[in-house]
Amino acid sequence: MIRNERMTVVHQAKIAHNIFELTLQGELVQEMTPGQFVHVRVGESFEPLLRRPISIANINNETKEFTMIYRAEGRGTELLSKKQAGEVVDVLGPIGNGFPVDAVQSGGTALLVGGGIGVPPLHELAKQLNARGVRTIHVLGFQSENVTFYEEQFSKLGDTYYVTADGTKGTKGFVTNLLDELKPKFDVFYSCGPLPMLKALETQFPDKPGYLSFEERMACGIGACFACVCNTTEKHEKDYVKVCSDGPVFPKGVVAL
Ligand SMILES: Cc1cc2nc3c(=O)[nH]c(=O)nc-3n(C[C@H](O)[C@H](O)[C@H](O)COP(=O)(O)OP(=O)(O)OC[C@H]3O[C@@H](n4cnc5c(N)ncnc54)[C@H](O)[C@@H]3O)c2cc1C
Ligand code: FES
Repeated sequence: MIRNERMTVVHQAKIAHNIFELTLQGELVQEMTPGQFVHVRVGESFEPLLRRPISIANINNETKEFTMIYRAEGRGTELLSKKQAGEVVDVLGPIGNGFPVDAVQSGGTALLVGGGIGVPPLHELAKQLNARGVRTIHVLGFQSENVTFYEEQFSKLGDTYYVTADGTKGTKGFVTNLLDELKPKFDVFYSCGPLPMLKALETQFPDKPGYLSFEERMACGIGACFACVCNTTEKHEKDYVKVCSDGPVFPKGVVAL
């Protein structure tokens, strides 16, 4: 159930160029699953009015803490980056349908492909898949080395490959270039990132089951305003889906790319 809570900032740190890691504590944590997101009020007043949707990158049920990793680029995320330990943040969540961790059985292999600010939700997903005995392979794409993060955390969980557009870390180019070379063997793929990347993956792995998470522009975040509507493919019974309430994760082939 989506609830509203004023959560306490435990920790905030800059972990790469314009990239921040923010850990909050509160009761909502116990209801979070990988691939869901929270809708964050970034200021103390109603300006800016709209909340910002941010994925759940790490869940710790014991301490009731969760972590977000976000790029501070616009007015809202810039304000969020100023929050310090002990302050409170108004959070709505957890929202949406996350990644199905039971889509691959224990002993199987999952391929996790992330692009830029689509990488954070894959971290909690990788943790939970590993906990179920699933091997994970991580292919993470970024613009440049200076915006990469969580290499140690992903590497502890499985084979981790970096791709950068400018070639400053890992393979130069797109994640699909590396996947062409690697030809990984896996049972299911999970991905979050820009639309062209999600589309390329659908094309690259037509015979594999896959789950795609969309980071569409949002307003209300709870299914009331139609800001995040996407057209569906002919195979789907509905003409459109709302990314916030029907997603953000969809099986491949649902959203028209
Ligand atoms: C389900 C979901 C999960 C996301 N997870 C992350 C994450 O883990 N880390 C991260 O860095 N970013 C994430 N994003 C993108 C993030 O929400 C935007 O980068 C952020 O809202 C931009 O706000 P701003 O204040 O920096 O920019 P502004 O330009 O001030 O934003 C103006 C308005 O546009 C909306 N907006 C702008 N860009 C986006 C975008 N790409 N997606 C959605 N709304 C946008 C804002 O919410 C706001 O309402 C996610 C988006 C969605 C939908
Ligand atoms: S953001 Fe309002 S319906 Fe999805």
